[in-house]
Amino acid sequence: MSDSFAPDLLADQHIVVTGGGTGLGRAMALRFADLGAAVTINGRRPDPLAETVRDIEAAGGAAEGIQCNVRDYEAVQAFFEEAEDRQGPVTRLVNNAAANFLAPTEDISPNGFDAIVQTNLYGSFYCTQACGQRWLERDAEGVVLSIATTYAETGSAYVVPSAMSKAGIVAMTRSLAAEWGSEGIRLNAVAPGPFPTEGAWDRLVPDDDLEQKMRERVPVRRFGEPEELATLASFLLSDLSAFMNGEVVTFDGGEALAAGGQFNTFTRMPRRQVKALMEQMRPE
Ligand code: HXC
Repeated sequence: MSDSFAPDLLADQHIVVTGGGTGLGRAMALRFADLGAAVTINGRRPDPLAETVRDIEAAGGAAEGIQCNVRDYEAVQAFFEEAEDRQGPVTRLVNNAAANFLAPTEDISPNGFDAIVQTNLYGSFYCTQACGQRWLERDAEGVVLSIATTYAETGSAYVVPSAMSKAGIVAMTRSLAAEWGSEGIRLNAVAPGPFPTEGAWDRLVPDDDLEQKMRERVPVRRFGEPEELATLASFLLSDLSAFMNGEVVTFDGGEALAAGGQFNTFTRMPRRQVKALMEQMRPE
């Protein structure tokens, strides 16, 4: 896949990927390393971190894994110290670590709300601020990419703390794009649609029937591949996107737009049948 970019697209970059041991974070970390970056991943569980680091090194890349819960401010400070001790100044950040579960909102406990909002919103802020402080102090350029979601804009039933916190991440991205842009620091976000990673699917997709319904909502009639997201993220972290700042790139096969168009229901019917119906409705 990386053949489509110059093989050194991300050479000289030290990229931090939060939640980089599994899922989309892992796919991005593998690709960034393949494109020449030194990658540092963090996460709560040591085993996935070790496995991803092993896989990157086996492919000839440079990676470090450091245990860190992004909800914890002090732990985030210590993480960046350690990451820079091991691989030099961090130059790019991907806010990927996320928490979510399906729940009727009236039943969510304060602790459940905290678990999601602190991971998604506080964690992204802590990491972004830690990088911004370093880059401003050093007069260095930098790029932050945050993983949002399409329902950050629309909201979504049954994932309210996630929607609230992802909307906050989008607001952070747009605000800091203005505040730090003149200092050479860019911030963008990706709003992915459905990507069947274990972390998301175990918590958000109860059975095969619902999975099929979710697939049918996507105009291109499939889910995203983590490698596709990794390709987009590589572009957004590289200088190829140097003029893009404060943008939220929707990456969902058209799912979010299709949910809004009143007449999109017709796309669920065979095209021939739709044409026949429309023909019947034409005035004589
Ligand atoms: C209601 C729940 C719950 C559930 C946990 N809680 N699961 N409440 N329904 N299904 C409550 C617990 O009861 C507890 O509150 C509090 O949340 C914290 O739970 P813990 O298990 O102690 O915490 P923790 O280990 O930190 O777990 C965090 C987590 C978990 C968010 C609950 O799901 C997690 O670790 N997630 C990380 C990975 C992840 O979620 N990935 C998905 C992101 S994908 P009490 O009051 O009982 O103490 C994504 C994409 C969306 O967001 C788009 C997809 C299409």
